[in-house]
Amino acid sequence: MLNYNNAAILAPMVRVGTLPIRLMALEHGADLVYTPEVVDKGIVGAERVVNEDNGTIDYVVKGVSVFKTHPIEKSRLVFQIGSANADLALEAALTVAQDVSTIDLNCGCPKRFSIHGGMGAALMEEPEKLCGILRKLVQHSGLPVTCKIRIFPDRERTLKLVKMIEATGIVALAVHCRYRDERPREPGHWDRFKEIVDAVSIPVIANGDVMKYSDMARVRELSGATGVMIARGAQANVSVFRKEGRLPTLDVVRQYIRKCMATRNLHSNTKYVLMQMMVEETKSSYYRPLCDAKSFRAVCKVFEMEQELDDWIEKQKAGGYPTDLDTVPRKTQDVVAISTTTLTAATAAPATGKRKLDATNGAGESKSLDETLQDGPATKKHAADGSSSQPTPADTPKAADPEADSEVAAPATAEKDTLFSAGAEHTVVFTSSS
Ligand SMILES: Cc1cc2nc3c(=O)[nH]c(=O)nc-3n(C[C@H](O)[C@H](O)[C@H](O)COP(=O)(O)O)c2cc1C
Repeated sequence: MLNYNNAAILAPMVRVGTLPIRLMALEHGADLVYTPEVVDKGIVGAERVVNEDNGTIDYVVKGVSVFKTHPIEKSRLVFQIGSANADLALEAALTVAQDVSTIDLNCGCPKRFSIHGGMGAALMEEPEKLCGILRKLVQHSGLPVTCKIRIFPDRERTLKLVKMIEATGIVALAVHCRYRDERPREPGHWDRFKEIVDAVSIPVIANGDVMKYSDMARVRELSGATGVMIARGAQANVSVFRKEGRLPTLDVVRQYIRKCMATRNLHSNTKYVLMQMMVEETKSSYYRPLCDAKSFRAVCKVFEMEQELDDWIEKQKAGGYPTDLDTVPRKTQDVVAISTTTLTAATAAPATGKRKLDATNGAGESKSLDETLQDGPATKKHAADGSSSQPTPADTPKAADPEADSEVAAPATAEKDTLFSAGAEHTVVFTSSS
């Protein structure tokens, strides 16, 4: 089971909490990271595809990666499911079980998409159904299970629900301290955590309006919560987890772009996340050009990183590897040969103030994240079928919208993400954190 004691946790965030941000959150001091919500039907039946060069794993549905991870995050990774059906939730959990540490059920999303499907916050109105899904996951997924809820305005009703939830056997409960219909701009109810903490004996993770590092200690002190979870604070600047204080946005932006190169994050998602990061910087000279950037190169140009991109492309070409970060390759075989030098170049960027992520390979050797990405899997096994179709391009990224800061349900099908290919099993566990 994950260690929730004093844990600093990256909250689930649709589109934002993709692999590059999760890796950065861990490097900057987060103890645990959540995936964005993935709706059960969106991942059931996915093909598990492992990049033979760096061990990055994609779950691919109809040619589109719906979930990308790397073994180095596995021991700290919580996979969040959106579901209204115990059997489908279990199927989804079993699909990804080998690559994650914990399964979380989203019971807090107030978006129409979720509520209409009986998912997210709708489950809080149907406690029996909610608990039925959790029980099924607890009994049959083989993994620790958690759930994330909001609160009711009614205290007694909230406490009754959390006790029912605890009785299902889940190992921790994340509480977003807002009512279902409250928007992010309305202040969260920090005063409601303590009574929940007192009512249950499992770890409670406090979430809502924790915007800076020092807030974590404040909310823990106030509530007795075991762990603290951050969403928007990390969306704006993922170095929020640094106890020394946040890095300048521009440094974080550049680190992020390098991480996107290293993991071949698709331009559309890269730009979307950058727009959210720049939400506090709309007056900066970078903002408007970023809005207009229509390709990965254009993004690099905005942040004066064209030379780094050119160096990266040179290395790709030298190895005979693809260089396109704007579109998902038509066929899986197009991306079989992702250059290890790519990853080295892109991840070897200055790591000022960053935690070094260490991992051990199967032989017990200690390796850094960058080395792990560079060296690739210990054993290799090629995917039987290398074909996949061209996915639909992602939506045009939008400028940050305050309403978009509320919980957003994952698209039923896919995050539009880069595909990797060719299979291999590779187990990496964390050995150190500072
Ligand atoms: C961009 C974005 C996407 C989100 N997606 C999810 C999600 O997939 N699942 C979930 O449970 N909550 C989601 N949330 C809600 C957050 O996890 C969190 O509960 C909420 O933002 C309150 O935390 P904060 O005050 O630190 O932002 C999302 C929030 C944001 C800003």
